[in-house]
Amino acid sequence: MTTAQTPHEQALRGAAHTALAAPSIFNTQPWRWEIDGGHARLYADRRRQLLVADPEGRLLTVSCGVALHHARMALAAAGHAVGVHRIPDPADPDLLAELTIIGTHEPTLAELHAGSAIARRHTDRRPFTSQPVADATCHDLIIAAETQGAHVHLIDDNHIAVLAFTAIKAGALQLSDPAYRAELADWTHRPPWSGEGVPTETAVRAVPRRVPVRDYAPFGGDTTRPGRESDRGARYLLIYTDADNPDAWLQAGEALSALLLAAVTAGLSTAPISDITELPTTRDQLRTLLPGLGHPQVAVRVGYPPPGEPPPPTTRRPAEDAINPRC
Ligand SMILES: Cc1cc2nc3c(=O)[nH]c(=O)nc-3n(C[C@H](O)[C@H](O)[C@H](O)COP(=O)(O)O)c2cc1C
Repeated sequence: MTTAQTPHEQALRGAAHTALAAPSIFNTQPWRWEIDGGHARLYADRRRQLLVADPEGRLLTVSCGVALHHARMALAAAGHAVGVHRIPDPADPDLLAELTIIGTHEPTLAELHAGSAIARRHTDRRPFTSQPVADATCHDLIIAAETQGAHVHLIDDNHIAVLAFTAIKAGALQLSDPAYRAELADWTHRPPWSGEGVPTETAVRAVPRRVPVRDYAPFGGDTTRPGRESDRGARYLLIYTDADNPDAWLQAGEALSALLLAAVTAGLSTAPISDITELPTTRDQLRTLLPGLGHPQVAVRVGYPPPGEPPPPTTRRPAEDAINPRC
């Protein structure tokens, strides 16, 4: 027998459902929601951690932060005021956040836009066009992300070569590691019905561009047509934090979500970039780009999409696997 859900419980379930669309490292969707009695608890799902690319679970936590922000925006846009308790129980570090509806709320325009951008956001790995993303637009994205507590550094043109160098180095080092190749092959060859992983159809083959992107199809397979552009108008934003611990990683994820949704609202295409932060050597090199001290967490490429078919959307796990799952 199922017990009737209260309106708050229904709204929390709806938000967790909406948050399934959140981007995550290798589309691992490394979270689980437990909803009961007016609370939604977000847990890290360690079984979905990338043990080679992400041994500390940093990008797992960043991904959960994205899902948290998506859920918060869905609730805010639906007119709910929400209390958020981050990492509430030191005895249970996998419990990353607890959401409680505490009243009604008049959504801001930014929240309404963010809520409606969730379904329209997809990672686009094609090179973006030469149409430059204006400084003022980048400024808006930075403000949106920084209200979530992390910092954002806009990489200026003089430093693109450093970013490109770290991306080339990360790609070469990772792909020469058999353990990384095995992990990549695993997550790029999931059966379509599983609703997880990165299908090669969403990857693009290597083409000349300002900063190379992670190669998700080094073993072959169908890929998206890259078009004729080379990212000349693209801008690169680096999210970084003062601390380097789970609280900071969660905050970086919330900032990543805010930045991506604001970019979609501004008519931009987006692609997160984290390979450059996955090895200590390239992550250290990225630090030299920051205006002060800080820990690089994840970068984002934003730009205007080329003409032609966009990559197909990636799929998601069934909701019952991620929301109040049986095991
Ligand atoms: C923390 C994080 C790191 C990511 N790193 C990369 C990356 O290095 N390269 C890339 O092309 N996509 C990256 N992505 C995008 C994911 O691969 C993508 O979100 C996932 O495959 C689901 O596809 P979607 O964004 O189109 O929904 C990252 C996403 C997150 C949240």
